[in-house]
Amino acid sequence: MQSYFPKDFLWGGAIAANQAEGAWNVDGKGPSVADVAQYRPNLDPKDYVSQWHVSPEQIKAAEATDDTTYYPKRHGIDFYHHYKEDLALFAKMGMRCLRVSIAWTRLFPTGTEKEPNPKGVQFYHDLFAEMRRLNIEPLVTLSHYEMPLYLVEHYDGWVSRDVVDMFVRFTKVCFKEYSQYVHYWLTFNEIDSVFRHPFTTVGVVEEKYANKHEAEQAIYQALHHQFIASSLATKALREVDPHAQIGCMMTRTLAYPLTANPEDAVMAQEYNRNNYFYADVQVNGAYPQFMKNYFRDNDIHIKMNQGDEEILAQHTVDFVSFSYYMTMVKSVNEEHMEKVGGNLTTSVKNPYLETSEWGWQVDPIGLRIALIDIYDRYHKPVFIVESGIGAKDELVDGQVHDDYRIKYFADHFKQVNLAIKAGVDVMGYTTWGCIDIISASTSQMSKRYGFIYVDLDDLGRGTYKRYPKDSYAWYKKVIETNGASLFDN
Ligand code: BG6
Repeated sequence: MQSYFPKDFLWGGAIAANQAEGAWNVDGKGPSVADVAQYRPNLDPKDYVSQWHVSPEQIKAAEATDDTTYYPKRHGIDFYHHYKEDLALFAKMGMRCLRVSIAWTRLFPTGTEKEPNPKGVQFYHDLFAEMRRLNIEPLVTLSHYEMPLYLVEHYDGWVSRDVVDMFVRFTKVCFKEYSQYVHYWLTFNEIDSVFRHPFTTVGVVEEKYANKHEAEQAIYQALHHQFIASSLATKALREVDPHAQIGCMMTRTLAYPLTANPEDAVMAQEYNRNNYFYADVQVNGAYPQFMKNYFRDNDIHIKMNQGDEEILAQHTVDFVSFSYYMTMVKSVNEEHMEKVGGNLTTSVKNPYLETSEWGWQVDPIGLRIALIDIYDRYHKPVFIVESGIGAKDELVDGQVHDDYRIKYFADHFKQVNLAIKAGVDVMGYTTWGCIDIISASTSQMSKRYGFIYVDLDDLGRGTYKRYPKDSYAWYKKVIETNGASLFDN
């Protein structure tokens, strides 16, 4: 096999401000939803639902303390103060692209301010200028589970239409300040995760709603506001920089039918359609008919302002990006079958796949299928902006022998190569957590994804020193050879 990766393929890495930067209350930054995420050692790390849930009592308790030990996203890996050193390591690795997010609360501490916080604005100037200096293309997410906590408490999060204006104000500042460095943007990270963890995504505290139906109604309303905000941000970007490209970002969780039973196939199809719904709106500029029918049949009423449909239709995205970690299996007889956990929900265990320590099933071929499906559905360039394996690495004498990570990426990259060979326009691949960061779901440090080890444990103890792992040299070679080294014997 040969390498089919295009010359300008964006080999890179990805992190998010709230999991990496730390400095949660430094230089005027306000608290965000991430700053109340607690590390709970007694919870089962595979219990995805409990890990993500944040109750009103937990919010109160978090607000009452400045503790960072049990709120690890508050210290992250201190990227805020280490970014030069980290970027230098990425540059040495040959990384062509780095996906980062801009913490909304660094620029607008409560979200309601009319003018941005100058120190916050300056930080991202410095960061992006340094990336440019090192020839690292920035790919910037405007919202990665980082909404101001103030907006949750005073506006019911994204359920309030007012939040659209505040978010758009924030994005306009980002475009005005940073378009000189940034040419690739994403609006909402994993916009489809609103039902999996509504607090972190749209600031919905489920306990505030009388029943499940009301909570569902609120979440769809909040989602609608995110769709509008995404379109208005797209419009604003085009006014500032008509050459920039902006993408939507979905969690691609491909589902297979367990058997050839057509009933299983229907379940998988329904699941996949639902997963696509979010990108359908952002690419096609309208709610798909199947969702309108779902709303009709389930008594969901979305309040739309006059002109909303036009806004969605007029400002659609340029490319489709997605995260990829695992695939799902659907069956009509799920009840008595063995299940596995994962990035979203439990699934029937796929007997053909290996499972990570956190129960996520690893499926390189599924990535090829996902790429081909997405491209055939939307006919837009696609970008894998997250993928990786969380593992417990061991640092011995300054070294980490992470052959499992090398195997994971070799297998996935080869499938991307096949998708490109099959005609898919793939822009790039930014591997998740290219330097170890705090886990989004479990707030653990010990769930590591990086090519660079950060000396820090789950309780924030350590030197913060960085150590390239074996996978660092391996990925460097892959980039250097534009994928050809994947096929060396
Ligand atoms: C994605 C998120 O869902 O999964 C990231 O966009 C997250 O923020 C990643 O870190 C991996 O999940 P986790 O829980 O292992 O950190």
